[in-house]
Amino acid sequence: MSDSSSPGLTRASTSFFQPSADVDGRDKPGHDGLERSGHKPDASSASAKGSLLLVNSVMGAVAAMFIVLDAGSARSASDLGEAQFRKNCAMCHSLEPGRNRLGPSLFGVLDRRAGTVAGFNYSSANKNSGLVWTRETLDAYLADPQTMVPGTLMVFPGIKNGGDRQALVEFLASQHD
Ligand code: HEC
Repeated sequence: MSDSSSPGLTRASTSFFQPSADVDGRDKPGHDGLERSGHKPDASSASAKGSLLLVNSVMGAVAAMFIVLDAGSARSASDLGEAQFRKNCAMCHSLEPGRNRLGPSLFGVLDRRAGTVAGFNYSSANKNSGLVWTRETLDAYLADPQTMVPGTLMVFPGIKNGGDRQALVEFLASQHD
């Protein structure tokens, strides 16, 4: 993203700042006209340096902006995962260890064998699926539970948006001791 957008940003900023740098150059001879009148090249190279400095600081600002945006998107990804859980899963699944509802507790689900939460009455489809819940199998299951585990008792159509699903899987992966 930064590769394609920053050259455009920089170019736009340079032409935006150029006029004000020129005005600056013309302004100075006005203050001490006698000294400056014979030094026009100096004034213009000073203004060129000025715009270079401006370009540098604009680049710095753009870099700082990307860092801030990165931090923002990291935070919103985990917010999105938790929101997905509350919206789609929380009515049937708890995240507390050993607390089963209509579905088994999802605490520590990452790397767990399917059908192994104590005290939960699984379907044989789930129990005999032979699956281990990795990021990959969770992603496929949550996209379409009935296709991944035909006959599962989990009545859920699946999350079709890949980004939403990935955020949810990362959120589930973070629920452990
Ligand atoms: C309508 C209730 C319901 C909803 C909504 C639901 N589940 Fe389930 N889930 C179940 C049931 C019931 C089972 C047990 C399935 C079986 O035994 O066949 C299950 C099983 C699972 C399993 C397998 C657990 C294991 O120990 O093998 C996972 C993982 C899971 N659900 C994740 C989710 C996630 C994530 C969501 C939200 C996107 C969700 N479920 C939404 C009811 C639900």
